[in-house]
Amino acid sequence: MANYISENELARQKEFITRLKNINEEFYKINGRRPLCNTETYGCQQNENDTERIRGILKEAGYDFCDRAEDADLVIYNTCAVRENAEDKVFGRLGILRHIKESRPELIIGLCGCMVQQENMAEKIRKVHNHTDLIFGTHALYKLPELLVNTIESKKAVTDVENSDGNICENLPILRKSESKAWVSIMYGCNNFCSYCIVPYVRGRERSRSPEKILEEINELIKNGVTEICLLGQNVNSYGKDLAENCDFSDLLRMVNAIDGVKRIRFMTSHPKDFGDKLIKTMAECEKVCHQLHLPFQAGNSRVLSEMNRRYTKEQYLEKIERVKAAIPDIALSTDVIVGFPTETNEDFEDTLDVLKKVQFDTIFSFIYSRREGTPAAKLDFVLTDEEIHRNFDRLLEVQNEISRRKNEAYVGKIYTVLVDGVSKNNEEMLSGRTDTGKIVNFAGDKALTGKYVDVKITKAHTWSLNGELIKEDI
Ligand code: SAH
Ligand code: SF4
Ligand code: F3S
Repeated sequence: MANYISENELARQKEFITRLKNINEEFYKINGRRPLCNTETYGCQQNENDTERIRGILKEAGYDFCDRAEDADLVIYNTCAVRENAEDKVFGRLGILRHIKESRPELIIGLCGCMVQQENMAEKIRKVHNHTDLIFGTHALYKLPELLVNTIESKKAVTDVENSDGNICENLPILRKSESKAWVSIMYGCNNFCSYCIVPYVRGRERSRSPEKILEEINELIKNGVTEICLLGQNVNSYGKDLAENCDFSDLLRMVNAIDGVKRIRFMTSHPKDFGDKLIKTMAECEKVCHQLHLPFQAGNSRVLSEMNRRYTKEQYLEKIERVKAAIPDIALSTDVIVGFPTETNEDFEDTLDVLKKVQFDTIFSFIYSRREGTPAAKLDFVLTDEEIHRNFDRLLEVQNEISRRKNEAYVGKIYTVLVDGVSKNNEEMLSGRTDTGKIVNFAGDKALTGKYVDVKITKAHTWSLNGELIKEDI
């Protein structure tokens, strides 16, 4: 059973929220405005979801929000540790924050999330960036009110990065990014220990939320106008293994599918080793489950997969993909790929290309292997040079871009229902939304359509998106 944060502890944190509110009222009296907080997220959807909780807590404590650190009274960066470049970005930003803090010493700088949860990282940060006020790890998120009060009142640096197998904290406030789509974490942590990956060390062991709590959260979302739900976990296929009741991920999907008002269900991520026929059947039978699957294969060569501790072979992966395609012919497939894992040879890499060609993914997320201190793969030697790894990476993109474009071209001339996300990021004149299969569609329309389902005829295909024209509003 998971370690739940007690009602008492939550009530204690509420008291700290009240104290923050009082501090912020004083601030209002002096400055004629509420204190502003700038939050940035460097990691995955789970990190984004955590940031939404952080913003929920801060809103309740009387903060407003701003988009730039330059305007902020409080900055909180929710960090990621999965690759070195995610950490480099945060270190770069800390350099910039140093200058801001020099001119405004009252600025409070907070770091949280996976990067700071790593062993010895907090000390490392403090050594170089002694202008950081608050450092708290993934397991301490619920304590933010207390930690923030301590920082403000003591005017001293506060750290809480205790190592832990992890907890579950229900009923934290939340301020969500979107009004029509919502992430719902169904489980936390990871037990898989893929040999390259830091996540299990910074997110603790797998623990599932109870189905009642998940359904309660979704029902509340529906009442507030949300229609698309994305169920989150590092490996959703492990959902329920630690619960007293008998409820696996397929059972949960069916329960969510039965909720009136839910129109679309997505989920991520699935681990191929636990992805099986029961889930495929459930996906095919539940009409609200989107025809989209993210199934990371990481590498095509079976020996490399074994070194990665992925616990499936190339053939087993390909066979699972065939079964999904047979059950859901229009399924859009995506994956994660790592290029240049230690011990990977050029010949091994050909297997990765072969998987791309055989599966025909709609999209891939590709990464150059990044050495993570403390993981087993960090001790392995490289066979390839950096130059060879980069060359392979470029070849991977070349092969995939062609596949992605061809897959998108098959959409041209057809009509699809799109959930409108809002004004397009790249063009203010256009709206942007997604098909059931997760394709981004840009089209002209009134921004009042945001959050609505509309029919769009696809007119043009690009590698990463589609263009279309509005055919019918309010589906
Ligand atoms: N739990 C998810 C993924 C979490 S991390 C899953 O198992 O699918 C997201 C992706 O980052 C991984 O799928 C992997 O492709 C990549 N990744 C993880 N560790 C990495 C490393 N050390 N170097 C490069 N990429 C890495
Ligand atoms: Fe990392 Fe593997 Fe867990 Fe995904 S399943 S988070 S890649 S250890
Ligand atoms: Fe996500 Fe990065 Fe942590 S990918 S779980 S934020 S290490």
